[in-house]
Amino acid sequence: MAKLQEFRDLEIRKAIQGLDFEGKSVVVRVDYNCPVSAGQVTNNFRIKQSLPTLNLIKEGGAKKIVLISHFDRPEGKFNKEMSLGPVREELEKLWGEKISMPEFNEDYRRYFRDIEEGQEKIYLAENIRFWKEEEAGDSAFAFVMSDGYDFFINEAFSASHRKHASITGISSYLPSFAGLELADECREIWRKMTVMISPSVALVGGAKIETKVPVLKTLGKYYDKIILGGKIALEYEKYANENPEADVWMTKVQLPQGYSDENKFDISEEAALEFVEIIKDAKKILWNGPVGKFEDERYAVGSEIIARSVSQNQEASRLVGGGDTIALLEKNDLLDKVGFVSTGGGAMLEYIGDGTLPGLEVIEF
Ligand code: 3PG
Repeated sequence: MAKLQEFRDLEIRKAIQGLDFEGKSVVVRVDYNCPVSAGQVTNNFRIKQSLPTLNLIKEGGAKKIVLISHFDRPEGKFNKEMSLGPVREELEKLWGEKISMPEFNEDYRRYFRDIEEGQEKIYLAENIRFWKEEEAGDSAFAFVMSDGYDFFINEAFSASHRKHASITGISSYLPSFAGLELADECREIWRKMTVMISPSVALVGGAKIETKVPVLKTLGKYYDKIILGGKIALEYEKYANENPEADVWMTKVQLPQGYSDENKFDISEEAALEFVEIIKDAKKILWNGPVGKFEDERYAVGSEIIARSVSQNQEASRLVGGGDTIALLEKNDLLDKVGFVSTGGGAMLEYIGDGTLPGLEVIEF
C-alpha cells in the first residue's frame, strides 16, 4: 500500500519499465474524461500525458493494446453525447496511430469478445460508464475486460479514487502495474508537498468543505498558509462555527476579503491582489481549484490573477492540479509555466488526504 508516508523509500515501484511487452496483449485504463465542446476535445492534457506509456507498450512490441476510459457521467446507459468518439479522433491525431472504437453494444460480453477477437492492434472501448456494471464495481464485468490479456496497466491517476470495475476490478485477474504518468504523479505530489520550505501556501478552491477536511488537515502539516477560494471559502464560516475546536489547519486559513459581485461568484480584485502578495513570496505553492466561477468570463478575473501570479513565481516548488484549474491555465496559455501539473482533481486531493487511493492499493503501488 503506497501510503504517502512510505513513499520516501520508493522510487518507481511496480511501474512498467522493464516489463516485456513483446507479443503481449495489454489492457490500459486511461482517464480521457476531457472537456469536449461541439464534438471536439478542447483540452487534451490528459491524453498527452498518457502517450509515453502508450508508446512504451507499443514500442515494446505489444500485439494488442486495449484502452479503457470513462467520459462524464452517463449513469450506466448509452448516451450519444457522451461517446468517446471525439477523444478517439484527438488520440489518433496526437499519437499518430490508428485507433479502432467498436460501436456500443449493451451486451458487454459480446462487445469485449469482439475486441479480443478483433484483428486491429489498438482499440479504445466506448465510454465504460455506458455499462452500469462499471460503477457498480461488478467483478464479472472486470473479468470480461481482462479475459485474454497478459497485463493490466493503470494510467488513470485522476480516476483512481473510484472503486469502479475498470479501476479496482481488473487487477484481480491480471498482473497489474502503474503507468509512467501515474507513477510520476504519486512521486511528485509527495515530494513537492512534503519538502519543508517556508514560506509556503496551499490554495484550495471548489466546494464541499466536509469532503475536503482530510486533505486540509494534511495540508495544515506541510504549508504555512491555506487560502480558501470559491464556494469552499463561503462554506468555511459555517464549518468553523460548528467545529470550534480549531484544528491546526484552521489556524492557517486565509479567506478572501471581498467579492466582485453580490452572488460571490468571484473574489474581488483587491482580495486577489492580497493573495498575490502571499504567492509571490512563497517558496512552495500548491494550487487545486479556481477561486470563482471562472467558466463564466465575468467571474474569471480573480482566478486569472492567481494563475498569473503562480506562473510568475518560477523560484517556488509548485504543484498544481484539478480539471478546472488545468482548463483555466490552458485558456490563459500558462499550463507549462506553473510547475508540476497533476491530471487529478478529486483524486489528487484524496491522495493527499488519505495517502493512497483504491486504484493504487489494488496494484500495490
Ligand atoms: C475527473 O475528471 O476528476 C475524473 O475523470 C473522475 O471523474 P468523476 O468525478 O466523474 O468520477
